[in-house]
Amino acid sequence: MTPPRKLHIKSYGCQMNVYDAQRMVDTLAPEGFVETADPAEADLVILNTCHIREKASEKVFSELGRLRVIKEEAARTGREMKIAVAGCVAQAEGAEITRRASTVDVVVGPQSYHNLPKLLAKARDGAPAIETEFPIEDKFSALPAPKPAAIRARGVSAFVTVQEGCDKFCTFCVVPYTRGMEVSRPVADIVADAKRLAENGVRELTLIGQNVNAYHGDDENGRTSSLGRLLHRLAMLPGIARLRYSTSHPRDVDDSLIEAHRDIPAVMPFVHLPVQSGSDRILAAMNRKHTAADYIRTIERFRKVRPEIAFSSDFIVGFPGESEQDFADTLALVTQIGYAGAYSFKYSPRPGTPAADMQETDTALAVPAAVMDERLAQLQALIDAQQASFNRAAIGRTVEVLFERAAREPGQIVGRTAYLQPAHVMASPDIIGKVLPVTIDSLERYSLKGRLASEETAVASLRSTQRESETFA
Ligand code: SAH
Ligand code: SF4
Ligand code: F3S
Repeated sequence: MTPPRKLHIKSYGCQMNVYDAQRMVDTLAPEGFVETADPAEADLVILNTCHIREKASEKVFSELGRLRVIKEEAARTGREMKIAVAGCVAQAEGAEITRRASTVDVVVGPQSYHNLPKLLAKARDGAPAIETEFPIEDKFSALPAPKPAAIRARGVSAFVTVQEGCDKFCTFCVVPYTRGMEVSRPVADIVADAKRLAENGVRELTLIGQNVNAYHGDDENGRTSSLGRLLHRLAMLPGIARLRYSTSHPRDVDDSLIEAHRDIPAVMPFVHLPVQSGSDRILAAMNRKHTAADYIRTIERFRKVRPEIAFSSDFIVGFPGESEQDFADTLALVTQIGYAGAYSFKYSPRPGTPAADMQETDTALAVPAAVMDERLAQLQALIDAQQASFNRAAIGRTVEVLFERAAREPGQIVGRTAYLQPAHVMASPDIIGKVLPVTIDSLERYSLKGRLASEETAVASLRSTQRESETFA
């Protein structure tokens, strides 16, 4: 029997890439590949790349420099190592990658992972193998179904792709060019995946997609299902205690999604709803197709049906032409909403996007680097303060925690609250996989410390979780 070949995958970027890494592992397993954490002993290294900002995509080339040395060392000992570049840089730059880094054997775009074995075979002949075709309508069905063993390794919380690609064409963003047009998976396939995950101990599902609430997959009756309807279906599966979804676009929040938050306790009251800017002028230039007031109205629709709901967002500072007033509008929006957390980025011109072209034609539109730094620091300070006060508000409260794993400190178990805050308690590992009430005593940086709520409540809730698990055992 030939010894297994070793595969090392390093992923950058969004959750979609994390999920795709698993898809690649599953695709390569029948070829005899097993995963390794050490690139030095790998027969195949895949860099699963992100193109979203310049910094992210440049990382690839410095990593390739390091890998070239490892590959040459392996060759000296008579071992052949192959290097593949996957993900969004592969899609955007294609053959350019092999021109810049001759050490690369395979370049494969996100729509072509099912062809990895074929591409590797092709690369054996010496010349690099490149495939960055898209769109492929049936890209989801071309992959083998995930194996239960791989699923179990993901613990109590798992991601499931429900749609991929984006047709929104925000003027700053590369995603429509790297991931292609929007494709939604059929409801039945998602339900089958979710069922398998639940049967393997998964309690929390995060439905992922570049624009997840644009979901419009067909159901078993040939009708189009919205994300809200899909959430209803998944909530009925025994064992599934929590449902999340990411990332949403404010324009695609429909009544069915609001109703899902109203009617389904398993749908967590925490929504990542990126707004990017608080200025209507900038929002229009970004092609977001909504105003700041529209966004606030959307937030209010959620809050009306689920008062305890919290939000996070993404922001871009220094978009071409952003004035002091535009930036002040962003700060005002953040102050008005009050976020549980948010990511903020400096605008990064991406080749081929309308905003980058605009700034290139009219260089006066470019926001100077020092101004961008100052705005980013100001915005982050405001967001950090909001996040800290949101986290502090948990102290003294009893909140539900889904326990995930043993923590670093002996005897401690860590889980997450509804708002994804890490929460630590001293307890037996039996609680892993259960949702239990925890009284929060303190906050250390971003992490909550507490104790299982009064024994009576804990026992009662233990019983109810046991009942739930019996139904699918
Ligand atoms: N599909 C999601 C996320 C897209 S990428 C959405 O529509 O919100 C994640 C975040 O990266 C974006 O929300 C945006 O804030 C940021 N981003 C995207 N392109 C960028 C660019 N060119 N420069 C800086 N930040 C960018
Ligand atoms: Fe990019 Fe906009 Fe699509 Fe999000 S909605 S992926 S920011 S184009
Ligand atoms: Fe990056 Fe591609 Fe995701 S550009 S953010 S890896 S969709």
